[in-house]
Amino acid sequence: MKPKITVVGSGNVGAQAAYRLAQRGMADVVLLDIVEGIPQGKGLDMSQAGYIDGFDCQVLGTNDYEATKNSAVVIITAGLARKPGMSRDDLITKNAAIVKSVVENAVRLSPQAVLLLVTNPLDVMTYHALKISALPPQQVLGMAPLLDAARMAYFISQELQLPIQSVYAEVLGSHGDLMVPAPSLCTVNGRPLTEVLSPERIKYIVAKTTNGGAEIVSLLKTGSAYYAPGSAAARMAEAILNDKGEVIGSCCYLNGEYGLKDVCLGVPAKLGRQGIKEIVKLNLSEPELAALHQAAESVKKLFPILNH
Ligand code: NAI
Ligand code: 2OP
Repeated sequence: MKPKITVVGSGNVGAQAAYRLAQRGMADVVLLDIVEGIPQGKGLDMSQAGYIDGFDCQVLGTNDYEATKNSAVVIITAGLARKPGMSRDDLITKNAAIVKSVVENAVRLSPQAVLLLVTNPLDVMTYHALKISALPPQQVLGMAPLLDAARMAYFISQELQLPIQSVYAEVLGSHGDLMVPAPSLCTVNGRPLTEVLSPERIKYIVAKTTNGGAEIVSLLKTGSAYYAPGSAAARMAEAILNDKGEVIGSCCYLNGEYGLKDVCLGVPAKLGRQGIKEIVKLNLSEPELAALHQAAESVKKLFPILNH
């Protein structure tokens, strides 16, 4: 029997994640939403695409948590995007309430599942899910550093007119203005980025990366990115199921790593069936480490809104 992966939220990111998982064929997929009909319709549509795209996978759309029972991974994309007139704090309060109900329902039926958060603000919601669930810290993680690294890799590849596969990129920190693209850890065909591009061009790449999500929002106007985010969530779920300890940038609970405590932040981590097998300690440059600490402070400032 295949393992089960549940995706909560059948909107843009959730649907893309579910479809990528179906294409990979390594799990049965449950797609859940509060809106009746949408997950069911999208699930049928995706399952039927298997005939054309050459995969055999059921995507079960539902509004009922019973269908999620015994999931190995629960990907949480349920939530709102910020709307005009809504403050950042309003968004946190509303999404915190949604994440709380999703986590409580999901953990009740799948206490062993790894929770993979996508809902924004990502670092705060990952911490919130950890506290609400009372699961061990390795069982709760968030998706964003892989997405931000993908954006950085794209901008480097465009700058150098090289295939994106020639680039290795690393982004740590929070998913927002204080993310920490780490040029000292990036390579191009195995060579350090710092030897390939000038400091000015690296500065430009870092700014493009930090603004990567906002750039897409300003183009789409009615929503935010979802192809790369959905693919990133599916890729992380795959690494969790594979249990090979693949190292992927993930939002993890830190307990002393990088000199930080009691905060969820993006760092490289070995992933496996239990979630985070190990947080990988890399040597950051001094400014990168300082930026990571600054990101931690700004994320922690938002915790009081969660009322734990
Ligand atoms: P969307 O609006 O297309 O989909 C959200 C879905 O959540 C909707 O279908 C809605 O009905 C559902 N939903 C709301 N409350 C629910 C509940 N209590 N239970 C189940 N489902 C519920 O939004 P989109 O574009 O899919 O984004 C989802 C979230 O992911 C947002 O918070 C967005 O900011 C975040 N995001 C995070 C990224 C990251 O890197 N971590 C990247 C892209 C988006
Ligand atoms: C993104 O970075 C909005 O977090 C979302 O695209």
